[in-house]
Amino acid sequence: MSLKDQYKIIEFKDLGDERGNLVVIEGEGRDIPFDIKRVFYIYGSDSEVVRGQHANRETEFLLVNVGGTSKVRIDNGRESEIVELNRPGMGLYLPPMLWKDMYDFSPDSILLVLASRHYDAGEYIRDYDAYIEEMNPKA
Ligand code: TYD
Repeated sequence: MSLKDQYKIIEFKDLGDERGNLVVIEGEGRDIPFDIKRVFYIYGSDSEVVRGQHANRETEFLLVNVGGTSKVRIDNGRESEIVELNRPGMGLYLPPMLWKDMYDFSPDSILLVLASRHYDAGEYIRDYDAYIEEMNPKA
């Protein structure tokens, strides 16, 4: 499957009015494909830092820069792409088994991450060479 068919850019409705903006993300297939079990956010990472650098065997993620900007390099072992997260209404959906690197954080970057599963260190692949090998089994 090509990388373009694996990740999704999702635009969320802005229910804002004269009082300000309001973006809602509902799980279980309403706005994103999964039920939200965990939320974390990353801020205060400077522009030199590269975070992520792993793939998850089970967890699906939805990434939104609710403030500032960052970039995500996604990789399926054969192709890679860079997506810039730069709007609070834009989400990047990532299924399991994609490698991701988050980097180029703006000073005001707040990267919100919604996850389909609770944290489990055992489902992480943190060795890129091992990941590439697993995604490209020898015939
Ligand atoms: P890490 O995987 O390096 O974060 P990122 O992918 O965002 O760069 O996680 C840093 C530490 O935090 C590591 O010890 C694992 C722990 N952690 C949790 O306990 N729960 C979580 O949901 C996450 C994302 C990390």
